[in-house]
Amino acid sequence: MTARLAHAVLIALGLLGCDAPEDRNARDAGASRSQPSARERFLGDADFRRQMLVASLTRPSNTYSRDRLGSYATADGGWDGLPEWNPRAAPFTRAHADALARGEALELDRGVARIWNGERPADGAWRALGARVFERFPLRADPSIAHALTDAAFAARVGLVPAEDGTYPGLVLFEDVDGVAKLGITCGLCHAATQVDGSVEIGRARRDLDYGRIRMRWHGDTGVALPAELAARMKRWGPGRADITGDDDEDPVAIPDLWRLLELDALTQAGTLQLSGEADPALKREHDLAILAIRQETQIIQAAGERIRPPRELAWALAEFVADLRPPARAKIADPAIARGSRLFADNCKRCHAGEVGSGPPVAATRVGTDPSLADSEARGTGRYRPSPLVDVARAAPYLHDGTVPTLDDLLDPARLSGEYRRGVRGLGPVVGHSFGTNLASEDRLALIAYLRTR
Ligand code: HEC
Ligand code: HEC
Repeated sequence: MTARLAHAVLIALGLLGCDAPEDRNARDAGASRSQPSARERFLGDADFRRQMLVASLTRPSNTYSRDRLGSYATADGGWDGLPEWNPRAAPFTRAHADALARGEALELDRGVARIWNGERPADGAWRALGARVFERFPLRADPSIAHALTDAAFAARVGLVPAEDGTYPGLVLFEDVDGVAKLGITCGLCHAATQVDGSVEIGRARRDLDYGRIRMRWHGDTGVALPAELAARMKRWGPGRADITGDDDEDPVAIPDLWRLLELDALTQAGTLQLSGEADPALKREHDLAILAIRQETQIIQAAGERIRPPRELAWALAEFVADLRPPARAKIADPAIARGSRLFADNCKRCHAGEVGSGPPVAATRVGTDPSLADSEARGTGRYRPSPLVDVARAAPYLHDGTVPTLDDLLDPARLSGEYRRGVRGLGPVVGHSFGTNLASEDRLALIAYLRTR
């Protein structure tokens, strides 16, 4: 890890000058617990994993849930029977991209180590391992990205630029299951963003990544057929959005920031997973980590085409790392409108956007009124949308689950709801739903926005 990246990780973890959540938990848990920790049970007890899985699935009938209920920690073994995979992987560098541009085959140096040394970390060292998994573990090979990198100007246009140190965040050179060195994508492809100064913020959505265009270009240049209907959809994704399911629904989602996840009631925009309702905070955290670890373990299994599974230690480490990501601290803003905005927020918004994260239990899509495709999707629908968390919301544009609203001003502007509106991702026409606040007087809307910028 480079110094800058390491710094970004520390900031993201809130370890610079703050109480480290892990220490606090170790104390709490140690005092009250006689049975094995959730980590031990996750690592060694399939019944526990099954129980956590079942408890976390909001709607067992969607494809996301059915896939897992059918294969994860089942009596006949299911995915548990897949071989564990701990590949060798190195950061993908500018030199590798140059080799691709010259048409050369990629080669992984013999000295490159496996992601994990095979030993369980000491207490307190799990998150450092998790950071490595986040940065290095290849979800799968990606020929379309390898192809995009052969044209530097195109790569820059679709958001594939190296960080200051010459490595590409979210990309690795790894040894695939078949023994061949390939370009692979990691969590950081979508969940780490390069800042203007060249540093990388881990957990920040990569909103300049235009995956649709990357895929289109590959199909265009290789001649590999793409159904016209799917092509039309990919064109419409635009940067920062992707349809991550293999179904036929038109339901691209905006890549979310990964801040303070365990303070949420549910994960994903449609609330496909619910976190535990445990009253004891230490136990709640442990169960929520197990739910997150299961999410990540099963995501990797599916991304790898169900050929391998990650060592469970790596899934747990990843969960511990991701769970405590938070945005870097910002300078305080002084604006006289903030106090008024805060009151307006309490009166109009807080019933759904509660607590420090500004979220709460998912609400019926019909009540929010936004495009219901994702909420109703076969793949991961629940009929509901989660109130979007408002952590660092000023920097989370574009807004709503599908990223259809470009600014906070637009979100609160009644003009957005009219047929003449033209700034939505789909061009001319209204972006309907979430009309909360649009009926306020214009100075009240400005005050509300001033307040939102402080969150
Ligand atoms: C190709 C882009 C992409 C990659 C790679 C990716 N994600 Fe995501 N991630 C998304 C999108 C898009 C969503 C929103 C899904 C939804 O709401 O249905 C998401 C959602 C999530 C969530 C839920 C966040 C929330 O607000 O509830 C977590 C946690 C997460 N991802 C973690 C990871 C981790 C860890 C990895 C690596 C193993 C990873 N993701 C890899 C695109 C990606
Ligand atoms: C009835 C519940 C409810 C109320 C009241 C409500 N919201 Fe929301 N809010 C939601 C839901 C649900 C979403 C996600 C909808 C979607 O993505 O389709 C959301 C999304 C948002 C987003 C998008 C954030 C992002 O990162 O995409 C912002 C900003 C927001 N709300 C601000 C407000 C403000 C300001 C108010 C008060 C004027 C308010 N909300 C009132 C439920 C509510």
